[in-house]
Amino acid sequence: MKFRTLFCCVLVCSPTLVAGQAKTTPAPTAGAAEIPHLRKQGTATQLIVDGKPFLVLGGELSNSSGTSAEYMKPLWPKLVEGKLNTVLAGVSWNQIEPREGKFDFSALDGIIRDARIHNLRLVLLWFGSWKNSWSSYPPDWVKKDFERFPRVQIAGGRNIEVLGTLSDANRDADARAFAALLGHVKAVDSHERTVIMIQVENEIGLPSEPKEYRDRSPMADKAYEGPVSKELMDYLQQHTDALVPELRKVWEAAGSKTSGTWEEVFGRSTATAEIFMGWNYARYVGRVVEAGKTEYPLPMFMNAYPYGFAKANEPIRNSGTPMPDLMDVWRAGAPRVDFLALDIYGSDFASFCADYNRSGNPLFIPETRGMPPYGLEARVLYAFGRHDAIGISLMGVERPAATPDPVLTHSYGLMAQLAPLIAKHQGDGSMSAVLLDPKGPPQKIRVGNYTLEVAPLGARRGAPPSVDFSAAIFIAAGPDEYYAAGTGVSVKFSPNTPGPEFAGIGTVEEGWFENGRWIRSRQLAGDETGQGQNLSLRTHPADRNPDRFAGIQHFALYRYR
Ligand code: DGJ
Repeated sequence: MKFRTLFCCVLVCSPTLVAGQAKTTPAPTAGAAEIPHLRKQGTATQLIVDGKPFLVLGGELSNSSGTSAEYMKPLWPKLVEGKLNTVLAGVSWNQIEPREGKFDFSALDGIIRDARIHNLRLVLLWFGSWKNSWSSYPPDWVKKDFERFPRVQIAGGRNIEVLGTLSDANRDADARAFAALLGHVKAVDSHERTVIMIQVENEIGLPSEPKEYRDRSPMADKAYEGPVSKELMDYLQQHTDALVPELRKVWEAAGSKTSGTWEEVFGRSTATAEIFMGWNYARYVGRVVEAGKTEYPLPMFMNAYPYGFAKANEPIRNSGTPMPDLMDVWRAGAPRVDFLALDIYGSDFASFCADYNRSGNPLFIPETRGMPPYGLEARVLYAFGRHDAIGISLMGVERPAATPDPVLTHSYGLMAQLAPLIAKHQGDGSMSAVLLDPKGPPQKIRVGNYTLEVAPLGARRGAPPSVDFSAAIFIAAGPDEYYAAGTGVSVKFSPNTPGPEFAGIGTVEEGWFENGRWIRSRQLAGDETGQGQNLSLRTHPADRNPDRFAGIQHFALYRYR
């Protein structure tokens, strides 16, 4: 029997969304194929919305903004102006189920209605049992009843404000609410499909303070001293060669045992506690996702801040979080979670994108910001061009008084123009991108039939390099035909297929796309192409219309000997 029917006796939703009907009657549901879903294209995974690949050009609202349609009213037009096509909005468990089994979706209905009016899609963030490690979003009736809904305990048996992962009561209460949410979204939106994906919980894992690697409650101690679950052991044995190296190393270091206690199988290390917590969180979330997908199988993902297994003398961080080192534990424990997503602010953008976009896990970045040395445009170009990203999203998008942020508008305007081309070339090696340290060496990338040597612009003319990293995307639209976009790079070409050994630059056009059609403005040559020796992608004159001068170039190469 479905979770929702088990509990839901009273349902509240705003009349505006389903005007004229006493109770939500499901709109005619679209065929399964038409609800938003994921599809493989070569090595890439694409999000399909209304039957077409959809690149998420997103902005995440501050945690509480999505709880009030009134609060959001003046902000939607600014988000449209920022050229977003998707808004990531939190849905609070406490707000939708203020009393047990009594659901109120009126605030959510207002957000869905207004996003639809502004032709924006939504990714809903389920703030359920855990957010940033802590349990601040469960309803008060859960928080108050710590006997029925047990907590994580730290050494000495003290409860902390984190719901325990081993409690069926906690898990089932979250799953019931999540199922009710997805059932409601299906009822009010499966025809319009404003809601395209769901993030389940938010940056979970034990809080870094107090310093605990695992739950120390009696229930957890008993489980930790018990055998590793058979499902996890079976998964490790069935996927040994495909395991992420970090996990495989821990298992092999303890002798690659196929059964035993957690410490027998993974050794006496902090990583074992992280694997143990990862497994327990995954099992819990796995059931929540199952309940939601039974109602409405939208793509569902987890988000995490980029950590790895804690190294000796390193602080403990979010033990059990859905990070790449635990990707296999999460896959074994929560098989219906579609992918792990990356929240990234300061640290090394390129290496963390690579960390997440491996072992078949697509790259999606729910939270980022332009922060030196990686500006927002550089992050956007690199994520889509180098990692076939499903999407990217600016955190706190509605915050800056100056919304829309001109860099955001420019970056998303550029991506919107290139979207059809990018979607066509994802996953087959005919597209790539660079992220260049202005003081660093050139990078070589293979794109189609040519190898591109990409150098920071200005390095050649001794101009002082800028501080921010430069980035550019390159798409081979034909054997010798390319599109490129970006800032601050110059490019030299050499063939990488048999034939005449030199590459020359033919016709170079600057222009823009209008509804997928290329419109040429200037034809570049002479100084603008280094007298035909290299292509240059420069900053765009701020006074020009960003829709037209987004810095896209279309060019042909030729071979000679
Ligand atoms: C990461 C979290 O996922 C967000 O919800 C928010 O708390 C930011 N940190 C900080 O604003």
